[in-house]
Amino acid sequence: MCGIVGYVGPRNAVDVLINGLSKLEYRGYDSAGVAVNTGNHLEIRKNAGKLGVLSEALKGQSLTGTLGIGHTRWATHGRPNDVNAHPHATEDGKIVIIHNGIIENYLPLKESLIAKGHSFKSETDSEVLAHLIEEQYKGNLEQAVRTALKQVRGAYSLVVTHADHREIVAARTVSPLVMGVGNGENFLASDVPALLAYTREVIFLHDGDMVVIHENDYRITDLAGNEVSREVTHIEWDAEAAEKGGFDTYTLKEIFEQPQALTNTLLGRLRDETGEVDLDINLDPKSFKRISIIACGTAFYAGLVGEYLIEQLARIPVEVDVASEYRYRQPLVSENTLAIVISQSGETIDTLEALREAKKDGAKTLGVINAKGSSMTREVDDVLYIHSGPEIGVASTKVYTSMVSAMLMLALWLGRARGTLDSAKGAELIHAARELPRLVEQALEPERVENIKRIAEKYKNARDYLFLGRGVNAPTAFEGALKLKELSYIHAEAYAAGEMKHGPIALIDENLPVVAIATDSFLLEKTISNIQEVRARSGQVIAVVSDGDTDASRHADDVIFVPKAHEMVSPIVNVVALQLLAYFTATTLGKDVDKPRNLAKSVTVE
Ligand code: G6P
Repeated sequence: MCGIVGYVGPRNAVDVLINGLSKLEYRGYDSAGVAVNTGNHLEIRKNAGKLGVLSEALKGQSLTGTLGIGHTRWATHGRPNDVNAHPHATEDGKIVIIHNGIIENYLPLKESLIAKGHSFKSETDSEVLAHLIEEQYKGNLEQAVRTALKQVRGAYSLVVTHADHREIVAARTVSPLVMGVGNGENFLASDVPALLAYTREVIFLHDGDMVVIHENDYRITDLAGNEVSREVTHIEWDAEAAEKGGFDTYTLKEIFEQPQALTNTLLGRLRDETGEVDLDINLDPKSFKRISIIACGTAFYAGLVGEYLIEQLARIPVEVDVASEYRYRQPLVSENTLAIVISQSGETIDTLEALREAKKDGAKTLGVINAKGSSMTREVDDVLYIHSGPEIGVASTKVYTSMVSAMLMLALWLGRARGTLDSAKGAELIHAARELPRLVEQALEPERVENIKRIAEKYKNARDYLFLGRGVNAPTAFEGALKLKELSYIHAEAYAAGEMKHGPIALIDENLPVVAIATDSFLLEKTISNIQEVRARSGQVIAVVSDGDTDASRHADDVIFVPKAHEMVSPIVNVVALQLLAYFTATTLGKDVDKPRNLAKSVTVE
């Protein structure tokens, strides 16, 4: 975790670093810090708390220089305080580092460095890197970093500078690192949004790459010192696309971007006449006997919808695992297994390691991924990009609906190729998919949003919430509960509606709001029976109901009408109502929705 930025060129480095870090706070915001080469020494400023604390502290200070490095932290080793904030320096202040990742063998390294006379200021694993590099330093910083890293086990993107050299040395293993190529200036960052104000030409560094940057040149090598060549990618999104664009928060903006994101996900991939999809995947859809879907968090729930769709449409057994379990449970895998990893960032370490596990055992692998050039995209056999654009809000919204629509397309791809889905049924589903951007647009109409806001306010003091859904919308209930927990910190549980009577029914009383997804479905009558069971025990029912369904709406205390969609794509429309419910509950309670406490957007530690 953590976000890092580096700069060398003619600009004031402090401005570049603070601006870059402001685009990376989604990676962690426990503390922030910068180190700037003032011409004769490296000056460090760092503070616990969000970046705003540091930028306030820097106001009125005359810190200038044209080379610097900056960091925003998500704490792993050591509390989130000033001392543990990065950058970390050697005792003489000559070598300064910032680090994203975890140094797994930091304790023995630290002990041996202490035995050699080094003294440590922080509780972090990262600080050992500064001292290790100092041990190896004999006038050549690149060489010192290279030799020091030979002793290190773990994950890192590491950025280092030395007071006597006008250069920055960086290296990555597992944790992401991108270089921005400028004209007479060069940049480093954990992610592209930090660079877009300055350059669109970027290089995604690979695992095991090292780079040395000066203002007019750069050199990329592997850890052994052999030069490697990496292509420069031109980034098309403008800086504006990564900004809030008129909304109060990134999260709200991203909820409203869903029609566009869905359009982008589906673009050019649907074949109406034949009921097929064109996904440009170089794997044989007929060769698989079994599918494993592996993901974390919101992506996991998209996987659960995928399981339902693939089993229904392509009749292949599917299992879905949270990645942290999959990687250690010795899954049964063969070359007839297709392992699908779903990930917004393409960097989540649990998912990445689970992918490696599946590959090791011979599975073919496919990534359903948003972030171009990310680690997973380079390790899978093929990628289905979801093209949602950057998602800054820590709680995932637009990426979820894009992921689910990508899973629908995969189910169509498999079903059509394997002959379990005829062209008429395929065409019906493609028509349903085409309708999605319009239906989601409708789900976001002002009067619907106002109704949800009213309901959020009515129940804002609830201590717990229960979410119920069936069939393809059981995962919608899970995702709705997750959104409410993440954004409002209200405890929420989700159950497949039919399972409620086997336990959670004991929780129901007049203080428990129960959100029931009761949209058009072959199972609707059964869901209505479950709603009755809740009401018979004085539970408060908030029903999510298809437009025009007066029968289902009669059974609820509060009703959220949503546009009527084909049942197979209805999770994409229905979840929008639950995103808004979570969002407005959180804003009514005054929570920081873009950066919920304790969470991080991309979890690159185990
Ligand atoms: C973190 C985020 C979640 C996200 C999960 C998986 O926990 O807070 O919102 O769903 O990671 O992230 P990925 O990038 O792999 O989709």
